[in-house]
Amino acid sequence: MGKIIFGDQILDRSVVHIDLEDRGYQFGDGVYEVIRVYGGKLFTAKEHIERLFQSAKKIKMDISMTPERIEDLVAELVKENGVGFGSVYMQVTRGTAPRTHMFPKPDSQTTAVLTAYTNEVPRPERQLESGVDAITAEDIRWLRCDIKSLNLLPNVLAKQEATEAGCFEAILHRSGIVTEGSSSNAYLVRNGEVITHPADNFILNGITRQVLAKLCQENGIPFVEKAFGVVDLLQADEVFITSTTSEVMPIVKVDDKPIGAGKPGGVTRKLQTLFEAKINEETKVEIKR
Ligand SMILES: Cc1ncc(COP(=O)(O)O)c(C=O)c1O
Repeated sequence: MGKIIFGDQILDRSVVHIDLEDRGYQFGDGVYEVIRVYGGKLFTAKEHIERLFQSAKKIKMDISMTPERIEDLVAELVKENGVGFGSVYMQVTRGTAPRTHMFPKPDSQTTAVLTAYTNEVPRPERQLESGVDAITAEDIRWLRCDIKSLNLLPNVLAKQEATEAGCFEAILHRSGIVTEGSSSNAYLVRNGEVITHPADNFILNGITRQVLAKLCQENGIPFVEKAFGVVDLLQADEVFITSTTSEVMPIVKVDDKPIGAGKPGGVTRKLQTLFEAKINEETKVEIKR
């Protein structure tokens, strides 16, 4: 769509050129976020922008703008592009400098650069209703998966493997311990408890995951953060994943084996309903499945 954010400005996409020596392009030296838009309204924007700052801090990168300014710019961008149901992709890289691994010198005038653009992305209503299939795959990522870094090659490879198997997601494991999806958090339901990997360096602490944890707490659904194995996943009553674009997505088959009754389970349905009510509460947009 027509307009983008570049630095501190909203510009026509056609006038912006990213330099070949941008460190994001050369090294994946940067961080990113995806914010959901429902009926033109941003959902959990503050939380995403706050995580953008946390990720930047973890890679020792200064964002020379305030979170409030970024939120205003993003809201303006969504308005100018007339986004209905969609997303804002935003990233900050360490800027443009002659290619060498170490950071640009503080006196080099190279600064972190924010860019953002929007897309129309419909809610995956049919899949939210029917559930989707997943494969399991080895988690070959680095040890700082808590940082939403631009380096996504292992995630790309895992998602491609899932796609080639006709599946929606690859659920990753380290030596048999389930961490998360290639672009989502992963959960199982056992005896009414929702179980997911603790928010440590092995997973990204999803914003959807954080919203869900709160909804569980408010509604008396046990939310347990503890490691579980691929074996537990396959024997679970229910499995689901969460992400900004996929919301609470039921998984009905893993590695070709049906989970529970092979259709979305009762706890997953309840969480979908609670999550949709939360979207409605925050955006005042009616969400239906
Ligand atoms: C690896 C990974 N884990 C988890 C998530 C879910 O995070 P969120 O709910 O903030 O979208 C994502 C989202 O892109 C992701 O890439």
